[in-house]
This record gives sequence, structure tokens and C-alpha cells, in this order.
Amino acid sequence: MIKVMTVFGTRPEGIKMAPVVKALEADEQVTPVTVVTGQHREMLQQVLDIFDVTPDYDLAIMEPNQSLAKITSKVLMGMDDILTTEQPDIVLVHGDTSTTLATSMSAFFHQIPVGHVEAGLRTWQKYSPFPEEMNRQLTDRIADVYFAPTPLSANNLAREGGDADRIYTTGNTAIDALQYTLQQDYHHEVLQQVDPDHKMILLTMHRRENQGDPMANVFRAVRDIVAENPDVEVVYPVHLSPAVQKTAREILADVDRVHLIDPLDVVDFHNMAARSYLIMTDSGGVQEEAPSLNVPVLVLRDTTERPEGVDAGTLRLTGTDYDTVKTTVEELLHNEAAYQEMADNLNPYGDGHRADRITRIIKDLIQ
Ligand code: UD1
Ligand code: UDP
Repeated sequence: MIKVMTVFGTRPEGIKMAPVVKALEADEQVTPVTVVTGQHREMLQQVLDIFDVTPDYDLAIMEPNQSLAKITSKVLMGMDDILTTEQPDIVLVHGDTSTTLATSMSAFFHQIPVGHVEAGLRTWQKYSPFPEEMNRQLTDRIADVYFAPTPLSANNLAREGGDADRIYTTGNTAIDALQYTLQQDYHHEVLQQVDPDHKMILLTMHRRENQGDPMANVFRAVRDIVAENPDVEVVYPVHLSPAVQKTAREILADVDRVHLIDPLDVVDFHNMAARSYLIMTDSGGVQEEAPSLNVPVLVLRDTTERPEGVDAGTLRLTGTDYDTVKTTVEELLHNEAAYQEMADNLNPYGDGHRADRITRIIKDLIQ
């Protein structure tokens, strides 16, 4: 038996690690240990409920407006105790959050190997996104096994000197998650409030580097697009971060045809995304999912670590300037050819069943 510990703390890590947890649980040669740091509370619980994952440990670290130093130090200390007790053969982390980096450091202090799922994404810009770019670079310095989603991310790791025998190109487990969630016959109370003849734009925005003016610029552009285009409605499940909530409510509350709602669980979000005309987002995960749904995505950031989607033509890097955002959305509302060109593309992140492959690789390496 090999003991595999999976550690995650936020909504997107949960969504992309749940298929891995399920694959580990289904394998008779594996003793799985699932740890959540609780960096997110309600938004992570939604994911655990949907995928029916019951953690063995919950560090429950979240507090309102938490600082990076506090998240990192609480996870570092909490994981120290759990690793001392459990002594797993390998620790799996995901992506680029503070949970990811602090858990990797803790495993390193215990000289326990680290497997990094979604390794090798890069913008090569220290502060963009902040702090995620450094979180993932530092995690990849510590990691012993890399599960890169695409050949490009695998190549990034090789360029940095990662051991070629330990870099596996596995696709992205976000696509596995879509197979659990998408439904043909889907209903939601918010969809009933949206006129079926209208074009529905799904909006999400939360990144630390976008809080303040960049976010306010985008929200003003959204408000004005809706005012000038009577056939457009916006659905915006607002992230629970107090900084995001404040700006969203200041600019978009009580605006006609803008629906500010609570974060959706992932079944609702995926099905809502699949029924949208367009997605505007600064999310990482949404950039990976949308190409499978044939919905164009405007990326509300200046950089992306997911250039595969831009090259495939599904993502457009729009930034957060008021005029650029407004002009780009209006082009896609009114120029059918430009819209179709973005909508009709293949997903560069694979076709699902990636979690099984990750499990097989771990078993081959450790047994
Ligand atoms: C974190 C990750 C980011 C990821 C995002 C996914 C870091 C540094 N950032 O950013 O990479 O894209 O998660 O959403 O790891 N809150 C709640 N309930 C929740 C979740 C959050 O109330 O369920 C509020 C709390 O006040 C919390 C704040 O949101 O302090 C910010 O959460 P935090 O995890 O620090 O940052 P995110 O912006 O969510
Ligand atoms: N998501 C969700 N509910 C929402 C908004 C997003 O379940 O209201 C999902 C989305 O499908 C994707 C993930 O959350 O899988 C992205 O999380 P987020 O944008 O918070 O983080 P990021 O991917 O940017 O790190």
C-alpha cells in the first residue's frame, strides 16, 4: 500500500483535485489521506459537497481579509503536525495558491516528496498574477514529480532544469470535473430571470492585483455596455472576498439587467457557463473550462499563464482598461464572424480522464 496525501484549500484547487481524490479512493493499492487547509470556507464546502469528498483533516484557517503571511504561516504550522502524524509516501498539491506553496514547504521540511498537479504554468512576471506566479515557481523548485497540463507547461519546467524523467504531460483535471457537472436538462432560478432572447454574459473577477481601480474600470464598462445594449444581461456570482464585494456592490448593485448573485456551486457555474453567450473573467480555471463549452472568453488581465487558449483562439487577453473592455465586448456582441471564430475551437487542455493517469504514474513511481 502507498499512502498518498492530497492537500488543497481553495475552490479551484478543490474542483481540480476532487477527480484525483476520487481516483485515489477507488484504487485498492492506495491509502488516500485528504487534507483541506480551509483557506476558503463556504466556497470550498460547495465543492466538497458536490463531489462528495470528506476530508480526513481540516485546518480551518480562513479569516476575513486574510493576509498572505497569515495564510502561509498557519498552513505551514498546521501541515507540520499532520505530516508528523501521517508520514505519507508523497504529498500532492495543486496550482499556485498560498496553500500550495506552504504545503510544499512543509513537506520539504519533512523530506517527503511533493507531486505538483498543474505544474509549469508561467507568465515569467513576478507580480502578475500576484502572488500566484511566485507561488508556482517556488513550488516547482521544491516538487519531485510534475503533472503538467500541456506540452508548453512541460517545456517550461524542462527549461528551468526540472528532471525530464519526472515531468508528465497529463492534460488538465478541470476537464475531468466538467464530466461530473454538465447536464443537458438544466434549470436554475437565475436563468429563469434572464430573458431567453437576451445575450447572457457571465462575469467573474477576484484577483488581488485587480482589486481597486482595475476592477472598478471593468465594472463601469459592464454597467455602460448593459445600458447601451438592451438585449444584454450580465450574471455575476460575486467572490466572497470583502474587497471584491465592496467594489461590485458600489458599481453594479441595482443596475437593470445585471444579476449580482452569491458564488455558484460548480454544477451551477459550469451549466451557466455552457449557456452563456460570452464569459468575462480574470479566473484561471474558467480559462481552461470555457474552450470545452465553445464559449468565448475575455480575460480581464494583462498577462496569462494559459497562452494555449489564446493561441487556440478561444481566449482574448483584454486587460482592465475601460475603453478596451467596452470595445471588445461590443465587437463580440455585434460582429457575428468575430464571435464564431472564437466560439468554434478545440480545447487544448485535453479531454478528461486525467486523474486516473496521475494515479497510475504515482503508483509506478512509488511502488
Ligand atoms: C485565493 C488564491 C487565488 C485563487 C483564489 C480562487 C492565494 C494567495 N490566492 O484567492 O490564487 O485564484 O483563491 O478563488 O492563495 N472568503 C470567504 N469565504 C470563502 C472564501 C473567501 O469569506 O469561502 C473571503 C475571506 O474574507 C478571505 C478572502 O475572501 O479572507 C480572500 O480569500 P483568499 O483565499 O485570501 O484570497 P482569494 O482572492 O480567494
Ligand atoms: N466557479 C464556481 N462558482 C463560481 C465561479 C467559479 O464553481 O461562482 C468555478 C469555475 O468553474 C472554476 C473555478 O471555480 O472551476 C475557478 O475558481 P476561481 O475563479 O475562484 O479561481 P482561479 O481559477 O482563478 O484560481
